[in-house]
Amino acid sequence: MKKATVFIDKHFIVGDIDKRIYGSFIEHLGRAVYEGIYQPGNPFADEQGFRKDVLNLINTLNVPTVRYPGGNFVSGYNWEDGVGPKNERPEKTDLAWGVIESNQFGFNEFVDWCKKAETEPMMAVNLGTRGVTEAQNILEYSNLPCNNYYSNLRKKHGYEKPHDIKLWCLGNEMDGPWQIGHKTAYEYGRIAAEAGRVMKMVDPTIELVACGSSGLDMPTFGEWEDTVLTEAYDQTDYISLHQYYGNRDNNTPDFLANTVAMDKFISSVISICDAVKAKKRKQKSINLSFDEWNVWYHSNEADTKVERWSKVPRQLEDIYNFEDALLVAGMMITMLRHAGRVKIACMAQLVNVIAPIMTSDTGAWKQTIYHPFEMISNYGRGKVLNTICKTPVYESKHGDAPYLDAIFILNEEKEELVLFAVNKDLEEAMELDCDLRQFAGYQVKEHRILRHDDVKAVNTEANPDNVAPVKGNCKLEDGKLSARLEDKSFHMIVLGKSC
Ligand code: AHR
Repeated sequence: MKKATVFIDKHFIVGDIDKRIYGSFIEHLGRAVYEGIYQPGNPFADEQGFRKDVLNLINTLNVPTVRYPGGNFVSGYNWEDGVGPKNERPEKTDLAWGVIESNQFGFNEFVDWCKKAETEPMMAVNLGTRGVTEAQNILEYSNLPCNNYYSNLRKKHGYEKPHDIKLWCLGNEMDGPWQIGHKTAYEYGRIAAEAGRVMKMVDPTIELVACGSSGLDMPTFGEWEDTVLTEAYDQTDYISLHQYYGNRDNNTPDFLANTVAMDKFISSVISICDAVKAKKRKQKSINLSFDEWNVWYHSNEADTKVERWSKVPRQLEDIYNFEDALLVAGMMITMLRHAGRVKIACMAQLVNVIAPIMTSDTGAWKQTIYHPFEMISNYGRGKVLNTICKTPVYESKHGDAPYLDAIFILNEEKEELVLFAVNKDLEEAMELDCDLRQFAGYQVKEHRILRHDDVKAVNTEANPDNVAPVKGNCKLEDGKLSARLEDKSFHMIVLGKSC
């Protein structure tokens, strides 16, 4: 059996966890909005048409912020089409996804839905086909209490009080040649600076996310962040990172080693932010918003067959397996390791579209990736401790990959110490130990394991608990934590003073 030792010190803190690191994303895409969160007439729908069964699953996930309305969709979107009387809203082409958008769900419905989902909106403005004026207009509609055209329009639409949305994205993936209104780094940096400047004139309390790269493999990576921040440093609070992984070669060890690439991506973006800060002699640091991350590849082929200009087709409906859940756990651990700088992250997406939750007309169920997200989002609150892992490694296409990914979280409020750990070894268990004598009086409160013999195992509507957590039995004796981490398994161990 392999052995790993984990070292922590309660005084060595990486950073406070911003709860928005457990955010998610709803785009007008496939069945995310329609048939996902909104389905008037469905037996599970409430009086506003919001699916209550889906809301219940989202509430359990404990998602503090949801990005909306896109994604690629936002770069061709007129937000005005989605407000006001529903029977007057136009049906429009959505060029990003080649479909027809009915606009029956829009900005105000999203804000109402967020209240029921107990989450905060993270709104994106269109900097693809639109610009400074439209960014100003939507913010005035959303946040201004005074008498003026756009806030009065909001009041006319039935929303007397401002929505008071604090977090705004300056466009989406503007580095991507696929993006409607794609720009060079300089062109985007300039429009982000000017839109951001005007938005902060309208409401100085908002925070802004500028577009970074759509992945570490983008040819413009690095140069893009440098140029955008050089142009828009003063207006930017966060720079975005997007990354999706797939197991197209069916090589599970390489697939699980993507955490190494993700770690490199985050460290590189931090370095660029700090280099621009130094160059500009600024006090303010730019933090990171990893506002699209997940596994995405299972549905690629099916998506080539989607009928053009159809309404609400099945798009990006990845059915996730057990190895995807292991990577999702590893990705979350990787982001937590950088909690000092990664303040916002959005699992992309939330329902039906590359999502932890799936729906049919008859119900909603949890995909495999729901489970690590649910555990880490609920128990990963507080401070991240610098977690040093002495672990065996293996060779992967990303270089040496550790078999063990682990992180300790200290929740001082609840007097809890929580360990999240993944054993990536597909064949061999690992004995993990950790000296916890600093935590006198702590006991094991809970140990949950996510494991399956078959890395390709999935959950379906008929068999929704095929991959689901079970209880573990680690020990804390004489100040030493010992846990057997079975081959290919994810663990959450909660230690605390009271049981
Ligand atoms: O999440 C799916 C798509 O992935 C988003 O629309 C886009 O931003 C990214 O390319």
